[in-house]
Amino acid sequence: MMPKVLLIIFLLGISLSCSKISQKDQNCDEKAVQPYVLPDLLTMQNGEKIKSIADWETKRRPEVLELYKREIYGRVPEGFDGKLSSKIFEQSNEALDGAAIRRQIALTYSINGKELNINVLLYLPKQIKYPPLFLGYNFYGNQTIIDDTKIVLTNSWIQNNGEIGITTNCATEQLRGKRNNRWPIKNLISEGFGIATVNYADIDPDRYDFSDGIHPLLYHKNQTRPAKDEWGSISAWAWGYSRILDYLKTDELTKDSKFILFGHSRIGKAALWAGVLDDRFDMVIANNSGCAGAAIFRRKFGERISKIYYNFPQWFCQNFKKYRKDENLLPIDQHMLIALIAPRPVYIASAEKDCFSDPIGEYLSGYYATPVYEMYGKKGLNDSIQPALNTPIFNTIGYHIRSGRHGVKDYDWEQFIKFSKKHLE
Ligand code: GCU
Repeated sequence: MMPKVLLIIFLLGISLSCSKISQKDQNCDEKAVQPYVLPDLLTMQNGEKIKSIADWETKRRPEVLELYKREIYGRVPEGFDGKLSSKIFEQSNEALDGAAIRRQIALTYSINGKELNINVLLYLPKQIKYPPLFLGYNFYGNQTIIDDTKIVLTNSWIQNNGEIGITTNCATEQLRGKRNNRWPIKNLISEGFGIATVNYADIDPDRYDFSDGIHPLLYHKNQTRPAKDEWGSISAWAWGYSRILDYLKTDELTKDSKFILFGHSRIGKAALWAGVLDDRFDMVIANNSGCAGAAIFRRKFGERISKIYYNFPQWFCQNFKKYRKDENLLPIDQHMLIALIAPRPVYIASAEKDCFSDPIGEYLSGYYATPVYEMYGKKGLNDSIQPALNTPIFNTIGYHIRSGRHGVKDYDWEQFIKFSKKHLE
C-alpha cells in the first residue's frame, strides 16, 4: 500500500500534470506558429494559372470542390432518388404576442421504404411578405430556442445538455426555452427576419454510429458504413440544410425569401460546407467555426486535425484520417472553402477567448479567399492583420472578433443582422 503522503503527492502530480496537459492541448501560442505555404487558390494542380471567372468556375472550382468531397467532408452517395414530403401540423398567426406567424412542419424524406423525419420550426414576421430567413440547426431540440409551450418535443436523439458529444434520446420539457439566449427570436422578428430551425440530430445524431440518421438510407446493398470518400456527419448536416431549403422554396410563406445559413461551432463548419454545395443559399454565417470550419489548418493552432479526428471521427470521411500527422499534406486549406462560396456574402465570426477555434486562422481564411471575390468585383478582407476587437467588417466577406468566449452572443446577432441588411437589399 502507498503511504498517505506519497499518495497525496502522487494525486497532486496527476492533477498538476492534467492541468498542464489541458493548457498544452489548447495549443494557443502564437509564437509557436511556424511559417507555412498555402496551396495556391488560383493555380490548378497541373500548374495552370486561373485568370478569369470562367476558368475559376469551370476548372479550378470543380477541382477544389472534388478535393473537399474526397479528402475532408465526404461525398453524398449518388444514384439515390428519395422523395421529400411535408405536412404543416401546427400553425398560429398570433405567435409571440401577435408579432409572428409560427408554423411547424413535419418533413419526411423517404427512400426504399425507409424514412427520415425532420421537424421544422418556423417564425415569420407578420407584416412582411417573403422575409429574409435565417436557417440554423439547434443542438437540443426546437423547444429550447424560445419559451413557447406550443413547440412540440422532437423524438430524435439530441445532444445531452451540457455534455458536448454525448447524445441522449430525450428532448425534454425542462429544456424548453433554455437556449433562448442564443436565439433572439423576438428581436429578429422585429428587425424583419424570419427564422427556421431544426434539431441537427433529426438529420444525423452526433455520435460515432453510421446506423442512424440519414446515412443508412443511402447505403448500397450490404453496405454498413460510408465508403472512405463518403459523407460523415458534417456532410449529412449540410445535406439536411438543402432538404429543408427544398421545402422552404415551396412553402407559400417563404418561397421567395432570401435564405441565410447560420451555424455555430460544429454547425458553423456544416453551414460553410452547405453554402459551398448549394448556391441557393444567399449568404452564409459561420460563428466560431474553428478547425475544419474557417480556421486555416496549416497554422496548426488551437484544435488540430489529430485532435478533431480523434474526438469526432464521425464528422468526416475516413480519408481525412491521413492528415492527422501533418496538415501540410492536405492539397487544400480553408481559404479555399470560403472561396468556393464566392461571390455570395459570407460572414466569419470569432471570439477573443476562443483560442481553440483559432480566431486569427478564421480571419485569414477570409483574407486569403479574397482574390476570388475580387475576380467577381466584390470586396473581401484586404488587411492581413485582423481588425481590432469588436470592430466588424461588412464587405462581401465580413468578419468580427468580439470579446468573450466561444458561444453565440447578442453582439454576434447584432452584426449578423447588419451584415444581412447590407447585403440582401
Ligand atoms: C468541440 C470540437 C470543435 C467544435 C466544438 C463545438 O470543441 O472540438 O471542433 O467546434 O466542439 O461544436 O462546440
